[in-house]
Amino acid sequence: MDKMSENVVWYPGKVSLEERENRNGHGAACYWFTGLSGAGKSTLARTFEKKLFDEGRQVFVIDGDNVRHGLNGDLGFSAEDREENIRRVGHMARLMFDAGFIVLCCFISPTRALREHVRGLFPQGRFNEVHVNCSLEECIRRDPKGLYKKAIAGEIPDFTGISAVYEEPDGAEYVLDTAKLSVEECLNRLK
Ligand SMILES: Nc1ncnc2c1ncn2[C@@H]1O[C@H](COP(=O)(O)OP(=O)(O)OP(=O)(O)O)[C@@H](O)[C@H]1O
Ligand SMILES: [Mg+2]
Repeated sequence: MDKMSENVVWYPGKVSLEERENRNGHGAACYWFTGLSGAGKSTLARTFEKKLFDEGRQVFVIDGDNVRHGLNGDLGFSAEDREENIRRVGHMARLMFDAGFIVLCCFISPTRALREHVRGLFPQGRFNEVHVNCSLEECIRRDPKGLYKKAIAGEIPDFTGISAVYEEPDGAEYVLDTAKLSVEECLNRLK
C-alpha cells in the first residue's frame, strides 16, 4: 500500500521525540476513531480534544470531512480512493505524532486491512484503535448529516453500511457503545 519516491534520503533532525515529549510533559500518541457514519467519531474526538487541550496537552484532530476539503479533495469513495485517503492521513498522523502531538483521527476506515496498515505506521503501544460502536439502525435514526436518507434512496454510491462494507474491528484498544453510553461516559473510558 505504501509508496516511496526514488532518489530520496531521510534527513534526520537534531530534536528527538523524547525531547519533545519531555518538554510537553506527556507522550505522543494516536487515537484512531473508526465506526459507521453517525456513530459519533467526530463528536467524541472533538470533546476529547477539548478535554486534553484544557489539561495543557498538545492535541489535534484530523477529521475525514475536513481533509477531504483540501489535502484529499481529489479522492472519492471507491475502495481504491478510500485506501489512498487512509494511506495519506495515516502518514499525516504519524508526522504529527513525530511532532509530539496526541493525534485524534476520525475516519470510518471501513476495513481491517486499512486499520492494520495505519497501526503499523506507529511504534508499538502508541496506536489506540477506538471502535465507536453503534448499530446501523441507530445511525440511520440519528442521520446527523442526512446522508443515510440519500444513500438509502440510491443517491450516494459506496455508502458504508448501506452499499459498502464495514468490517467490525476485532482487538480494538477501546470499544465505545455510543447507543448506550453518553459522550461523557465514553470519554471517561479513554485513557
Ligand atoms: N455517546 C455518544 N457519543 C457520540 N455521539 C453521540 C453519542 N450519543 C449521541 N450521539 C450523537 O450521534 C451523532 C454522531 O455524529 P458524528 O458527526 O459525531 O458522527 P461521525 O461518526 O463523525 O460520522 P461521519 O463518519 O459521518 O463523520 C451526533 O448527533 C451526536 O450528538
Ligand atoms: Mg465525523
